[in-house]
Amino acid sequence: MNISTATKPHEQLAERLAPQMEQVNTLIRERMASEHAPRIPEVTAHLVEAGGKRLRPLLTLAAAEMCGYDGPHAVRLAATVEFIHTATLLHDDVVDESGQRRGRPTANLLWDNKSSVLVGDYLFSRSFQLMVETGSLRVLDILSNASATIAEGEVLQLTAATDLRTDEAVYLQVVRGKTAALFAAATQVGGVIAEMPEAQVQALYDYGDALGIAFQIADDLLDYQGDSATTGKNVGDDFRERKLTLPVIKAVAQATDEERAFWARTIEKGKQADGDLEQALALMAKYQTLEATRADANRWSAKARAALDTLPEHPIRDMLDGLADYVVSRFS
Ligand code: IPE
Ligand code: IPE
Ligand code: MG
Ligand code: MG
Repeated sequence: MNISTATKPHEQLAERLAPQMEQVNTLIRERMASEHAPRIPEVTAHLVEAGGKRLRPLLTLAAAEMCGYDGPHAVRLAATVEFIHTATLLHDDVVDESGQRRGRPTANLLWDNKSSVLVGDYLFSRSFQLMVETGSLRVLDILSNASATIAEGEVLQLTAATDLRTDEAVYLQVVRGKTAALFAAATQVGGVIAEMPEAQVQALYDYGDALGIAFQIADDLLDYQGDSATTGKNVGDDFRERKLTLPVIKAVAQATDEERAFWARTIEKGKQADGDLEQALALMAKYQTLEATRADANRWSAKARAALDTLPEHPIRDMLDGLADYVVSRFS
């Protein structure tokens, strides 16, 4: 008998879906290579071998399995969503000028921006080749829409993130686009290939959407509260990058004139000095915005769990329920 040692929900999912995930990893390795441009496998291997949680492909495999699908497309689509994700990470680290990803130096730091942009484009294109192999126009529709929405979210963030007028509604629009769109597509296509009734396909979408929002809010919280050994990214990056995320938006909304001047200098004008991150944290503590942000993440997590009610009873459904809890509690 196999005694399970997996404790975290995504590890339980990974254990349960191990044979399919093995095939996904094989497919990723096959398709991330290139015979013609040696820089491509160098960069992709650096990122892919560093691991990552593989959350999105797990979501696709989980949705398909829960819906009783046992054909070849789930593995293809799982690899597709991880390729889209990896492509966006390559581009995102250029845009954010980030130096650390998955516990390693970023590709833009190790190679250069040009390589990250072009290899990101290559992975995007590879993802489209993979999804075409399913022969399903509905699947192509969902994933191509998701790709466009991710890019829109990232571009909206470019202008919104350093503008103190950005409110929680705009933040939500950014997060829904840059992160939740791919989570939602990942779960939705699992139901589509299993030919589930529309109400259940919609429930899978709703679960992924709410999970993705909860995940990104938690990620933005971790940027101030996490430790870099756990997250594999630097603490305080969002502040240094002048990115208005929910904890800061909530502090700006309650700021005195003097505090507003501090946010205008550090975020809008980007004039930062030693001690500013500490001052930002002190203002967030004053208005308890980290706690309020965590409460928002919890609300989205509850919404994700509620969406599961429409779906058939299944052990994987329980794991997805646990995953919704986990994404907002991965603070230690
Ligand atoms: C990172 O996503 C990008 C965000 C949406 C915050 P993950 O935290 O899922 O990244 P990996 O794949 O595990 O590295
Ligand atoms: C992640 O955006 C979303 C995408 C990669 C599209 P962030 O910039 O917030 O995430 P990290 O902190 O770099 O992982
Ligand atoms: Mg980033
Ligand atoms: Mg970014």
